[in-house]
Amino acid sequence: MNRNFIFRILFAAFLACCMCGCSHTTATFNSDIQVVRSLDPDYPKALVVYDSWSGNTQLVADTIAEKLSCPSVHVDQIAEYKINEYDLIIIGSPVHGGMPTGKIEDFLTNMPKPKMSAVFATFGAPLLGPLTANACLNKMEKKLQGTCLGKFKCLGFHKIIRTYPSHPDEQDKADASKFAEEIRNLCLNHDNMKSGPAPEISDENP
Ligand SMILES: Cc1cc2nc3c(=O)[nH]c(=O)nc-3n(C[C@H](O)[C@H](O)[C@H](O)COP(=O)(O)O)c2cc1C
Repeated sequence: MNRNFIFRILFAAFLACCMCGCSHTTATFNSDIQVVRSLDPDYPKALVVYDSWSGNTQLVADTIAEKLSCPSVHVDQIAEYKINEYDLIIIGSPVHGGMPTGKIEDFLTNMPKPKMSAVFATFGAPLLGPLTANACLNKMEKKLQGTCLGKFKCLGFHKIIRTYPSHPDEQDKADASKFAEEIRNLCLNHDNMKSGPAPEISDENP
């Protein structure tokens, strides 16, 4: 076996590792999270908070907010909103070195524990991009103290190395919209309700 052949095998294995379980657009859901249901007719009252340096994450934030008919707020403006008035906080960030931006990190550190939450990220590095995005989402999820119902990631044009110029594209937006819908469904139809309407008890089954 020559060195060139070994190098090719190792490179193929590396590529497989990069692709395995971390495809470009993914949505994952956590059905173990306890859902805190209110009786308010507006439930779930949602708020999308994002940071964005070049518009990609803002586009995904606005798509999610449109689906949930809720505000989409840049993290710089978050002081105007009271987190504890919302049932669901959805937080989005561009991936910067496998991390959320400093502003999102500060927001996650200082915000009160939300009732329920979800996170999303856009990323643009080739090969290891999906892994760095997963690392970023996991960091964000950890800060949410067991309230995170789901995670979503998709590609975004990288303004420095100029990869993925057409992203987020229409398919990414459709996937983000579907993610929002699934999160809303989790809030509405979840087995693990913390509070809510008392179960109906029929006469036959007291
Ligand atoms: C300073 C900087 C660091 C970045 N680091 C990463 C990274 O670690 N992994 C990755 O996949 N993309 C990385 N990117 C690409 C962005 O995450 C991606 O282009 C994202 O969609 C930008 O979103 P925005 O337009 O909302 O700022 C980086 C971009 C910048 C500007």
